[in-house]
Amino acid sequence: MCGIVAYLGSREAYPILIKGLHRLEYRGYDSAGVAVINEAGDLNIYKAVGKVANLEQVAAGHDCSGTIGIAHTRWATHGVPNEANAHPHLSQSGELTMVHNGIIENASPLRNQLKEKGFTFRSDTDTEVLLQLIEYTQKKHGVDLVCAVRSSLKKVIGAYAIAVIDRKDPGTLVAARKGSPLAVGLGEANCEFFLASDASPLAGYTNKVVYINDEEVVELRRGEEPAITNLNADKVDVRAKEIDIDVNMLDKGGFPHFMLKEIFDQPAVLRDCMRGRLLPSHHRIILSAVTEHREELIHARRFIMVSCGTSWHAALIGKQLIEQFCRIPVEVAYASEFRYSDPVVGPGDVVFALSQSGETADTLSAIQLASERGAMVFGIVNAVGSSIARASDTGTYIHVGPEIGVASTKAFTGQTTVLTMLALAIGWEKGTVSESLYLEALEALEQIPDQIARILEKDDEIKALAQEYVDKRHFLYLGRGMNYPVALEGALKLKEISYIHAEGYPAAEMKHGPIALVDEDMPVVFLATHHNLYEKIISNMQEVVSRKGKVLAIVSEGDTVVKGIAQHVIEVPHTPNYLCPLVSVIPLQLLAYHIAVAKGLNVDQPRNLAKSVTVE
Ligand code: AGP
Ligand code: GLU
Repeated sequence: MCGIVAYLGSREAYPILIKGLHRLEYRGYDSAGVAVINEAGDLNIYKAVGKVANLEQVAAGHDCSGTIGIAHTRWATHGVPNEANAHPHLSQSGELTMVHNGIIENASPLRNQLKEKGFTFRSDTDTEVLLQLIEYTQKKHGVDLVCAVRSSLKKVIGAYAIAVIDRKDPGTLVAARKGSPLAVGLGEANCEFFLASDASPLAGYTNKVVYINDEEVVELRRGEEPAITNLNADKVDVRAKEIDIDVNMLDKGGFPHFMLKEIFDQPAVLRDCMRGRLLPSHHRIILSAVTEHREELIHARRFIMVSCGTSWHAALIGKQLIEQFCRIPVEVAYASEFRYSDPVVGPGDVVFALSQSGETADTLSAIQLASERGAMVFGIVNAVGSSIARASDTGTYIHVGPEIGVASTKAFTGQTTVLTMLALAIGWEKGTVSESLYLEALEALEQIPDQIARILEKDDEIKALAQEYVDKRHFLYLGRGMNYPVALEGALKLKEISYIHAEGYPAAEMKHGPIALVDEDMPVVFLATHHNLYEKIISNMQEVVSRKGKVLAIVSEGDTVVKGIAQHVIEVPHTPNYLCPLVSVIPLQLLAYHIAVAKGLNVDQPRNLAKSVTVE
C-alpha cells in the first residue's frame, strides 16, 4: 500500500513532510495530505487528490507552521480517491488526526458499532473508523493516546501502519504497525524523530533507524528514548541500526526499475490480496461479493470473462479454475472482440471484467454492453474507484498496490490469486468442491507467497542465464493445461519489454505447424512443472530437441528427467496443479526483465506502450 511520513522535533515539520512524500511517490498513489500542529495548538490539515504538487498548491499561503506533523500518500482500498477520503483523517472531536497504510478488514462492523454510539463519519474509509475507535476509547476510559491506540488495535483485523497525533498533546507522536512497514529515524539525543513507510524519506536526516515490528506500538516524545510496547503494553527493546541509503536509488525503493520492484513485491502484496479473505484456520474463504451475490453466482448459466493483454491471460487461468471447481461453463473473450461481436449475452450470464488499471477502454465498453443486455458484471480490478470498478455490479479488488511498470507482473499474480479464491468460494457454496480439496487448496494457497519468495532468491541465476539470450530474435513459449496461459504471458512479457518476437503456444500444437520454426537458433521455453500433463510435455520437448531446438525449462524442484533433455532448467517449488501458474510465471517475469535490461532498453516505459490503454 502507500506512504506515511511523520516528524516530531524542533524544526519546521512541513518542509520535511512534503520532501518525504516526494520520496515516496515511487510507490504510486491517488491522493495526498498533511497535518501540522502549530505553536498555538491549532491543528491544520490540507489534502488533495492527485499528486503531491497539488497538495503543495492547496497548502500554499496557509498556516503550515509547527514542529510536529504527519503526512500521507494514499492508494485507495476503501472509498474512492477524493479529498474527503484522503488522509490525514480528523476525529469527531477535531482533536486527533491520523494517517494509515493498509486495510482494516472489519471496518464495516466497527463503523456500525461507533454509529450506534453517536459517531458520524466524514469519509468512506476504513482508516477513519480506526481513528474514531481510538478517540472513543480515549474518552470512554480516560486514557492517554498510546493506551487508546493499543486497546483499539486489539479490536482490528487487517493490516496497518499508522501515525496519530493529538492537538491536546503536541509533544507526543504515536505510531504502530501490523503487515505494513514502518521505520523510525532517530535524531541526535532524541531531540527529533522521523517516521516513514520505508527508509527513503529518512535519507539526509539520519542513518539511525528503528524498524517497528508487527503489533508493536511506539510512543515518541522530544528528548526521550522511543518507548516501544506490544499491544499488551509489555515493554519491547529499542533496536536501532545504522543504515546506508543510496540516494540515487531512492525513487524506486532501492530497485533499479519499478518492474523489478513489483516482481519482488509479489510475496508481500499477495499476502495483502489474501488478507482477511483466505482464512485457513477457519477453513473459510470470505469474499463479500460472493456472500452478497451467492444466488446469481451459483445459479449462473455461464460465466464470460472479458479483458485484454495480461489480464486476458489471467482470465484463461480463471476459466480452468472455475470450470474445475464450480462446473460452470466459462467463455474467455478479448474485450475488443466481444464489444463488436453483437454477443449473445443476457440475464443469467455473469460477465467478469479483469483489469489492473480499471480504465481499459475496450474492457469498459464490453461490460457496459453486457450490462445493457442484462448480464451481471463482476469486476476484478486493482485500482479502487476506477471506471471499470464503478461500472461493475459487484467485484473483488486485487489489493496489490499501484503497478507502475508498464509490463504487468504483480497484477497478474494478484488477479490469478483472486480467481483462485473466487473459484473455491463459489465451488464451496455450490457443493462442487470436496471438503478435502477445499482444505488442501486453502493451505496450499497460503504457502504461495513464501514459495514465490524462494524463487526470487534465484534472481542472480536467472540474470546470468538471460545474458545467453540477449541476441536471440525469436522465442517460443510452450505449455499445457494451467501452464498454457503462462506460456502466453511469458511470451508477452518478453516481447513487450525486450522487443524480441515471442510466441506462446499450447505445446501439443507444435506438430500442427510451428515446429517448422525450430532450429538451433530458436530458444524454446517449456513450462514443464510436475503436473497432470507432465509426460505429454516431455514428449513435446523431445520433439523440439530432436530438431536441434534449445530448451529452457521451468521444472518442479528435484526434477531429474527434464535436466537430461533441456539445455537449462529453472526449478520452482511444488504446488497442486491448479496453483502452478502462480509459481511458474515468476522465472519468466525475471527472464524477460533481465534480457531487456541487458539490451539497455527502457524496461518501465517500453516504446509504443501505455500503462493503461484508455483508447480503443
Ligand atoms: C501487460 O504487461 C500489458 N501492460 C498489457 O497487456 C495490459 O495487461 C493490458 O493493457 C490490460 O490492462 P488492464 O489490466 O489495466 O486492463
Ligand atoms: N485503506 C486505507 C484507505 O483506503 C489506506 C490505503 C493506503 O494504504 O493508502 O484509505
